[in-house]
Amino acid sequence: MEKILVKPNGPLKGSVRISGAKNAALPILAASILGTEEIVLEDVPELKDVEIITEVLRGLGLKIKKDKNTLTIDPKGLNSYETDYELMSKMRASFLVMGPLLARLSKAYNSLPGGCNIGSRPIDLHLKGFSALGAKITMTHGEIKAEAEKLIGNRIYLDFPSVGATENIMMAAVLAEGETTLENCAMEPEIVDLANFLNKMGARVMGAGTSTIKIKGVEKLTGCNHQIIPDRIEAGTFMVASAITQGDIEIDNVITSHLKSVIAKLEECGVEIKTNGSKIRVIGRENLKPIAIKTLPHPGFPTDLQAQFMSLLTQVEGQSSIIETVFENRFMHADELIKMGASIKVIDREALITGKSKLYGSKVRATDLRAGAALILAALVSEGETEISDIYHIDRGYEKIEEKFRKLGAKIERIEKEN
Ligand code: EPZ
Repeated sequence: MEKILVKPNGPLKGSVRISGAKNAALPILAASILGTEEIVLEDVPELKDVEIITEVLRGLGLKIKKDKNTLTIDPKGLNSYETDYELMSKMRASFLVMGPLLARLSKAYNSLPGGCNIGSRPIDLHLKGFSALGAKITMTHGEIKAEAEKLIGNRIYLDFPSVGATENIMMAAVLAEGETTLENCAMEPEIVDLANFLNKMGARVMGAGTSTIKIKGVEKLTGCNHQIIPDRIEAGTFMVASAITQGDIEIDNVITSHLKSVIAKLEECGVEIKTNGSKIRVIGRENLKPIAIKTLPHPGFPTDLQAQFMSLLTQVEGQSSIIETVFENRFMHADELIKMGASIKVIDREALITGKSKLYGSKVRATDLRAGAALILAALVSEGETEISDIYHIDRGYEKIEEKFRKLGAKIERIEKEN
């Protein structure tokens, strides 16, 4: 089984280029089902999750050629509305093909996406949106069938600004008859990237990035060239890496407006940040100050950086707190950090972190992809060697992570180890 070994090696220094965003690439790949001409996607990160959704699309008849970070897709061969069960169960984001299939073929059969460690991950809001557009939904033996003679635009209010539901319903609505208004929808930058991609193919999506999106249905979509936006979560991970090691890192290929809440929290802590176009320089300081964090839908503090900040706050004198409002069970990394010597108390949705703790290299387990990254960060400032297992989680969301850390001076390697 593969593991990652990390040893401390002082402050990280140098520059790192951020890859394309996983959480933009996945919905945009699903949306390629809606195209009828060639689509070329650039800056697609080479990740396990991208491989899985590429396999799902090939299973539906799309032809996809990969040349490093560029994917060329021919969607004309679309010949199925049933997603492969095996692949679906490997990654819940495959559920994002539901909306496009419904729009293109008036039918979409999918197995119920599994929950995962961070929560039950329901899809009720996705289904509520499809129904509002006129789809008939049936659920038997863990399979969901959505069928609609024709999708008709409607006004839909989302009980929660779900990222996936906003994306799935948007993709279903672009070919519907008439206008759809999506209210209380997610405002993440990845939603905007998806809307830009759809509009390049001839869709009429307005208001992405705000809490109300209007979609005017069109007859068909064509094809386009599109470059995936940089991954703000990967960028945030390396910003914390510089802060926790008191390093000096320049992070390239960043859209700083996507990181306002993260920059604000790091500066509140006492970290020095200099932005310059698509670059961010992060200089870690001694004697950082404790802070309170509350994760929220964008533009609030991102839940996907909560674990990484927890590692940092173990190294900050005093008591910090993190409230996780987006997922019901996203503190499993706390137990792993406690194993390493951190002092953390979790009560319901709040974690109280008392620093500064001396951390010791230990055998720990990645419990989700961001938790895995958080353990690498903690290991960079622990005494002795840390061995991280279940690193397949990390490979789902971080492209060439050891290479990028090694280039900054980290002592990190991937090994094959039986137990
Ligand atoms: C997306 O997941 C991201 N994944 C997640 O990133 C991210 O953490 C999350 O958005 C929140 O920002 C991708 O984009 C592929 P949600 P998604 O629907 O769409 C509840 C990572 O680390 N909910 O916004 O599944 C749900 O239970 C991953 O890269 C419903 O109740 O997130 C959760 O509590 C992890 N009913 C909350 O909304 C629904 O129908 C947020 O979920 C849908 C969601």
